[in-house]
Parts: sequence; C-alpha cells; structure tokens
Amino acid sequence: MKQYIKVDGWNIIEEGFVPHYNKISESIFSLGNGRMGQRANFEETYSGETLQGNYVAGVYYPDKTRVGWWKNGYPEYFAKVLNAANWIGIGIRIEEEELDLHKARVTDFSRVLNMQEGYLQRSFTATLESGKQVKVTATRFCSIVDDETGAIRYSITPLNFEGNVQVTAYIDGDIKNQDANYDEKFWEETGASIQHTSAYITLKTKKTGFQVCTGMQFNIYQDAKPVVMHVTPVQKEKYVGVVTTVKVKSQQETVIYKYAANLSSENHAVAALANNCEISVGKAAAKGFDAMLKEQAAAWAMKWKESDIIIEGDPAAQQGIRFNIFQLNQTYTGEDARLNIGPKGFTGEKYGGSTYWDTEAYCIPFYLATADPQVARNLLIYRYKQLGKAIENAAKLGFNNGAALYPMVTMNGEECHNEWEITFEEIHRNAAIAFAIFNYIRYTGDTAYLAEYGTEVLIGIARFWAQRVNWSEARGQYVMLGVTGPNEYENNVNNNWYTSTMATWCLQYATEALQYVKETAANRYDAIIKTTFFDAGKELEKWQHVIDNMYYPVDEQLGVFLQQDGYLDKEQILVKDLDPAQRPLNQKWSWDRILRSCFIKQADVLQGLYFLEDRYDIDTLRRNFDFYEPRTVHESSLSPCVHAILAAKLGDEKRAHEFYLRTSRLDLDDYNNDTEDGLHITSMAGTWMSVVEGFAGMRVRDGQLQFTPFLPGKWQSFAFSIRFRGRILKVKVSKQDVTIENDAVNDITVYIYGEAVEVPAGATVTAKQGNLVN
Ligand code: BGC
Repeated sequence: MKQYIKVDGWNIIEEGFVPHYNKISESIFSLGNGRMGQRANFEETYSGETLQGNYVAGVYYPDKTRVGWWKNGYPEYFAKVLNAANWIGIGIRIEEEELDLHKARVTDFSRVLNMQEGYLQRSFTATLESGKQVKVTATRFCSIVDDETGAIRYSITPLNFEGNVQVTAYIDGDIKNQDANYDEKFWEETGASIQHTSAYITLKTKKTGFQVCTGMQFNIYQDAKPVVMHVTPVQKEKYVGVVTTVKVKSQQETVIYKYAANLSSENHAVAALANNCEISVGKAAAKGFDAMLKEQAAAWAMKWKESDIIIEGDPAAQQGIRFNIFQLNQTYTGEDARLNIGPKGFTGEKYGGSTYWDTEAYCIPFYLATADPQVARNLLIYRYKQLGKAIENAAKLGFNNGAALYPMVTMNGEECHNEWEITFEEIHRNAAIAFAIFNYIRYTGDTAYLAEYGTEVLIGIARFWAQRVNWSEARGQYVMLGVTGPNEYENNVNNNWYTSTMATWCLQYATEALQYVKETAANRYDAIIKTTFFDAGKELEKWQHVIDNMYYPVDEQLGVFLQQDGYLDKEQILVKDLDPAQRPLNQKWSWDRILRSCFIKQADVLQGLYFLEDRYDIDTLRRNFDFYEPRTVHESSLSPCVHAILAAKLGDEKRAHEFYLRTSRLDLDDYNNDTEDGLHITSMAGTWMSVVEGFAGMRVRDGQLQFTPFLPGKWQSFAFSIRFRGRILKVKVSKQDVTIENDAVNDITVYIYGEAVEVPAGATVTAKQGNLVN
C-alpha cells in the first residue's frame, strides 16, 4: 500500500519524482478512448524503470502457448492486445546532452490526470549534468471526439542558458511485449514515409495480419509564432522521425505540438490506411491542440453528466470513485461490438487485454446505468457473434448438438486460457453470459433482444449444461462433477453450488425465452428452431428433467448452501485467525496448501446469492453471508463489491462500507502492490456497483426502479446519475433526504424504501432518508 497520490475531487495528482513509483504512476495516469490507449510513459527519453505501453483496441497477436505439460484441448495460443507503436516520442537534446529524467536532477515534478476534461499533464524542472536547467510542461490526451487521434503540447523553457535544442519527433514501432512467451517481436514493417514535419509508419502483426498505420505531424512555436524549421528525416527499421534544431533563449518558452493518429485495418481498407492516416493527422493539426482539447473537455462533460458520482464529506472516496468511472469510460465506449473490456483495459499487458466473465458479471451493470443501452447491447452482441466459436469450443471438449461453451479468456471467440482446471472446469462463465442477457433486458425492457440475438445464445448455453451434468444412479439426481467455481482456490470439485444453481437457472431462462419468442415473434421462433436444429419436444423435456432433479449441496444443520461436496471436511479456520504475515495466501502458501484449506478467494456461493437474490429470503442470505464471508480472503479484486452489496442488503452498513473501501482506491493507493502491472479496470465497475446497488440499494424489479439508500461512513451525501428507460435520473442521498430528479420528458414511478413515488418529468421529489415523508 502506498499513499502518494494527492487527494483532489477531479484530479489525480503526483508531486515529486520517485523513480521507484514510476511504473505504478504509468498505470494510474493511463489515457484511453475506447479505440486506443496508453500508459503514462514520458515523451522524452527515459532510461530508468518503465513499462512502455501503447495499445490499439482489437489488434492482437496469438502468442504461442507455453505450458509445462500439454493437455488435449488446450488452446494453441494466448491472444494479446499487443504493445503497439509509441507515438508520443519527442527526443530532446540540449546542446550535447539528452534530456532524460533518469540522469538529470528532477525538481518541481508533478503529474496531473485531469479527469474532468480528460487529459494528462506533467511538469518538472530538470538540471542536467552540465548545470543547464529546463522547465518542461507536457500535456496530452487521446481524443474521445475523434478516437483515432491524440495530441501533445510539449513546452520547454531554458532557465539559465541559451543555445540550441534539438527536437526529434518520432514514432517507434520497434517495440515488444514484456510478456511475450518466446521473447518474440510481434510486428513487421510494411511501409513508412516521411514528408517534411510528418512521418508515417505501417506495421503488420505477424500471424494475425492486422495492419496499423501510425502517423504524426509536429510544429514548434516561440513567442506565439511558428518557428521556421529545417528538418532532417530519420528512418530506421520500424522507426520514423524528424529532427530539427531550434535556438532557445533563457526564459523563452518553446512549444512543440505533436498530432498523431492510429488507424487500423479493422476499420480501414489496407490500401487506404496510409492515406487515411495522413488525412486524420492533417485534420488534427489543422484543428490545433487548443481546439481539440476544448472539444475533449466538452465531450467529457457529457460523459460526466451521465456517469458521475458525487460524494460530499469524504474527498478520498470522491477521488476514488471518479477515478474508477473515468477509467471505465476510457476503456470501453460501446461504439464497436467487436471490442470488449480487458481486466486491465489499456493500462498494462497482464490478462492480455482479453475478455473474461468480468464483463458480464461486473461491467454490464455500470454501462447499463450510465450509457446508452446500445453500449451494453454491444457487449452482448460481442458474445452473440462468437457463438459459433463457443459451439466449436464445446465440440472440442466432446459436447455436441450445438452445445456452446464460451471461453474463459478470449479475443475472437477462441479459448486462450491454458490451465486445465480453469479452461475445462471453470465453466460457470457460461452462466454469466446468459445472466447478462437477463440483466440487460431486466434493466432496459428490450425484450425484443431475445428474438433478435439472445435466444440462440441461451440455447447453446442451455444445451451445454444439459450435457455437462450427469445422472447419478446413487443419488437419483443430476450432479455436476469436476468443476471450478468462481473461488479458484478450489479446483476440480464436485457439485459446486454456484455452478449447479446457475446451470439450472440458465435452463429455466432459456426455456422461458423460447416460450416468449414463440408467443411474440413466431417467424423468428421458427427461424431460430431451424438454424439451431432445436428439437423443442425432446430438448425442453430434458432441460426440465434436469431443472427438477438437480442435486445442490446444502448443510441442513448450518442452514447454508455448501460451496461444494465435502467443503465441511476441510479444517474450518476463519480469516481473522490467520497470521497476517501469511497473506496474501497466493504469495505465501503453496498451491497445494491453498487447495486443501477452507479459504475462499472470491465470492462463490455469495456470487449466486447476489445474482439470484430475489429467490432467497433474508435469513437465508444472512446465514450464508455470515458463514462464507469470514472464510473469504478477497484475493480477487472482484470479491469485495459482491460482499458490499450483500452486507448493505442485510442492513450491515458498516461492513458494506468496509468492503467498498477495499476496492475504491485499490489502484490509487496500490493496495495490492500490483498497480504497476496495470489497473484493475473490471473491478472498478464493481466499486461503482457497491455505491449504486450497495449504498443506494438500487434494483430493478418488474420494470421499476427501487432504492433503499443509506449514507456510509462519514459521507455527508452522495449523488449519482443513471439512465433508465429513456430518462436520466439524478439520485441524491443526504443525511436528511433522498431526492430524485427526473431530467427527462417522461414521468416515472420509482420505489423508495418500498413506497411508490411519482417523479414527474423535469421535477425533483424528496423523501426522508430511511423513511418516506412525501
Ligand atoms: C479471478 C477471475 C477473473 C480474472 C480476471 C482472477 O483472479 O479469479 O474471476 O475473471 O482474475 O479479472
């Protein structure tokens, strides 16, 4: 845990340069716009510790799998959103010395991530070995208005000398992934050109053949006038640059503007890439940095209007939640159904930028409530498009008749994960994908989605479950053997309650979906039956038989659902009785010891109780929560939010707040000592859920919004905006009141503490906190 980030409502601020923290800050200060993103690397050369990272969404490389012992069914590769050309590079030489913060004495260093307007600013004074001093302020952003462009304003002022400064504006494509399995470079150059102050390079990924053209143009200003430049091109393998020398006077500011674009063959014809890149860079340069930044701020203002959470009385919490919302909005915009949300977004290499169940289980609620319904819909369509591959994936493992098993980790629908206990056994991910369809429809009311896309996916998933269970003669029931639940600290268990419960839930939901489509869209029903070769009589009968005869482990005496068969055979020790020096377990204990222990990595039974809350009475929720939480080590950042929401539901406000605190500043405070690898983007959505579903108790039931809010900790108030079925509502919870403002043209009825409240269009309605007054 480190607490060097200054607390501020709208900015993430680092003051003073600590090289040892540089990689952490590179993650925290990351920029992105859904189409591309980058770590907060320096523009000028830096020879100290750094993890260089620039990423272009959807452009990946199938890095050949490396495993100790090959198992049949393992994927051939792990897809990685690969490190792409570095477009921020601006080399600075002052007379004979290179500006490099690893070698210079650095004072007045600050880095600020302005979340309100969406830019990063870094400033410092550097004293070189010769004693020459320069002051630098570098500002840059990835545009969310034109998501293929980015811009930099790099200001440099000599403080105690005059002379020559050599500037090299460049694009470096000779980069590699730190996590490359075979230390291989993934890109090859297919073309490059340099024209006066512009340079372009097109790189192609080996094997996958994606092409990305990265271009840049720069100009330099002194005394508000453009400097007439004499330029020299520099071209090396996978590198293009332009060098110029400017005369500088002491205290005179020189400003370098660099405009860049990244265009990929995913969005442009290969033959047009270089030309379109030139047009994009030219447009950005013609618009100019200030105008681009102004547009950027206006676009971010719109995003904030819909997704902000305002907390009064706890500035650190305010900064934490805004940071999470900012990073989620930087990662995924929902404009492209081919894209998804990697657990680290564009902030590092870990998890390869690939898609996990995190998207469906944790991210969907955030995007549902804070963006146009199309955004969450696109996340669902992503899986719809990969249905064919999920069916192939299941077939590889021996399933048939259109059974679909979605991968644990994927880029294009193919499985990339290669640990048998997860690849083959952590199959609960399939259920999260079905649940996301349910959740999307529950929230938006878009039942037409079932006929359009949803039902085909649900059939594939249901078929998988119906085949994955087996009839146990001994029990006279269906069982599910050899699975890994969300708690990855147990592998290859029998009858994981969560997996079995979600499996039959999927069978039930798929049955209902088919019935609904049959009744409301007969033509589509016929088409779906035909394309899926669905045998409505036989298959539905089998599904129902499984639903009616599934075995779920329970312990009658304790009154809890059992995580899996035999869970109670384990030595029952509570987390509070563990020596803190032994934690985190995954770093201190052997894997064998972890597997044999009763300790739970992340919500498992409780994940099911969270998803299917309405099936269970409050005493059942409480008994299970009281049993499982004390055994949970929360060593996945996805865990605390589920516990926060359940604790809130159970009226345990104090603990709900404690769970929330574990993730709200997870990356800002480097809580787990791993922020340098990248940010925990998907768990950021969980933090949002803790506030909205936890503290505000928001639920959608029967197409209506319900709230049961309370104020956590020392908060004076909190407010959040949500979109719901054509309305934008602002909910504010203060010590006295709950107010709901309806910023739309339609009236709405919401439930506050169980009472119906009319909120007319354009009006604000107030209820007393804790119990309704009007
Ligand atoms: C968690 C998984 C999660 C993955 C990516 C793992 O540590 O156990 O549930 O999908 O991280 O975030």
